[in-house]
Amino acid sequence: MPKPGHQNKAPGPSGLLFAKSILDFYRNPIHLFSNLYNKYGGIVRMEGMSYCAHLLTQPEHIKYVLQDNAKNYRLSGIFDETAPVVGKGLTTNNGSSWLKQRRMVQTAFNHKHIHTYSETIISTSEDGLRQWEKFTTSNEPLNIDSEVCSINLRILGRLLFTVEFVDGDPFLDALAVVRKVTIENARSIIQLPINRRFGEAVKLLDDFTYGRIAQRRNGESHIDILSMLMEATDESGNGMTDIELHDEIMTLFFAAYEDVANALSWTWYLFAQNPEIETKLRAEIREVIGDRPPTASDLRNMPYLSMTANEVLRLYPTTWSLLREAIDEDEIGGFHIPAGSTLMFDLYLTHRLPEYWETPEQFDPERFSPERSAGRPRFAYFPFGGGPRQCIGNELALIEFKLILARMIQLYQVTLVSKPPIQMNALSSLQPRGGVWVHVTPVGR
Ligand code: HEM
Repeated sequence: MPKPGHQNKAPGPSGLLFAKSILDFYRNPIHLFSNLYNKYGGIVRMEGMSYCAHLLTQPEHIKYVLQDNAKNYRLSGIFDETAPVVGKGLTTNNGSSWLKQRRMVQTAFNHKHIHTYSETIISTSEDGLRQWEKFTTSNEPLNIDSEVCSINLRILGRLLFTVEFVDGDPFLDALAVVRKVTIENARSIIQLPINRRFGEAVKLLDDFTYGRIAQRRNGESHIDILSMLMEATDESGNGMTDIELHDEIMTLFFAAYEDVANALSWTWYLFAQNPEIETKLRAEIREVIGDRPPTASDLRNMPYLSMTANEVLRLYPTTWSLLREAIDEDEIGGFHIPAGSTLMFDLYLTHRLPEYWETPEQFDPERFSPERSAGRPRFAYFPFGGGPRQCIGNELALIEFKLILARMIQLYQVTLVSKPPIQMNALSSLQPRGGVWVHVTPVGR
């Protein structure tokens, strides 16, 4: 790789305009990035107050940073306040320590375990979705976001450490407090004081997790992700310490907390505006599996379901922004990137670039057909990131998303109650502001 030969700076806001961009960022980052892209182009430099960041929107530049020259770009913790809870887990760690942990955690996400995990997903979501019948009798609306989030947390409890969470579980309440505070802090221009409730919640999560680890050390055995993490060893044959185990388990809870719920909420919002797509998907599900609950192996026979899931994550990439920090100076697209610069990717923007996506605003699952996908660059679409830090739960997340969606369709007719347009909250994940409220009625009634 040739050394950067010049100091050609990318265009972008500096001085007062930079200060204004910071305020705009905290107000509406997606709107800001889209304006910057329209004004300055595919690489935008934001500079001021001894801070430098670059917004990259073009697939080849994203590929370069996330994959081709990933060694030079570490994860940036600039908007991440989760370290007091997740310690040095995968989403905060870097360098050789990250690589060692990644290899060990990866063993629990090997494809061979997916079948077992799917059974837990199917049985847990079946219980959860069946409980929605109470809404059909009372004719009350339900918020898909919070309902699926609670099903997802029950799935995680079972998959990660064979724990049955119930509504109002102290662990889940503590998790909710900690998430709220860390997100508010990351998205606030002023550092908010960490309050007593936060400290108590972190302690509860720690005690619970270390308690589970201690039970396993004392001989209790289960088939779950915690056991696999405890069996994993590095190249020298060493396993993880209790602290490392705790950090990775908390990291997985945080990383898998809400994306699937957000994705399903956006799906029903999109269906409400494109009923013909829901009808087509219903027909595929009826034809392939009829009324019986779907299994993971059914998914490969339902291409329209896969294309629909991909298309939802194109329009609403729930992890909508990724951040890196340049270790050494570099050059991208002919522009100088100083050491220490933050690199920002906005998936929402890249997933809508008209060069790669015909009528980008349209909800059109078939754009993911093999014929129409041919020739599209890998990083024009990256809802799970890419390169060495690609989402470790990618396969699991897609299976969960598709299994719950298929079962929802089999069990219920869904009518939107929330009034469109639903705004986006670009917090830790791309959430529908206020949730997606719907009425559900049993299919066939
Ligand atoms: C629809 C659901 C999900 C989406 C859209 C999603 C998206 C992502 C993305 C974009 C990254 C890359 C972050 C970066 O490069 O900075 C990532 C990383 C990660 N995800 Fe996911 N994720 C989802 C579900 C899950 C699930 C279910 C798990 C685990 C059970 C998980 C665990 C992780 C972990 C541990 C990382 C960090 C990997 C590393 O840096 O080594 N995610 N996710």
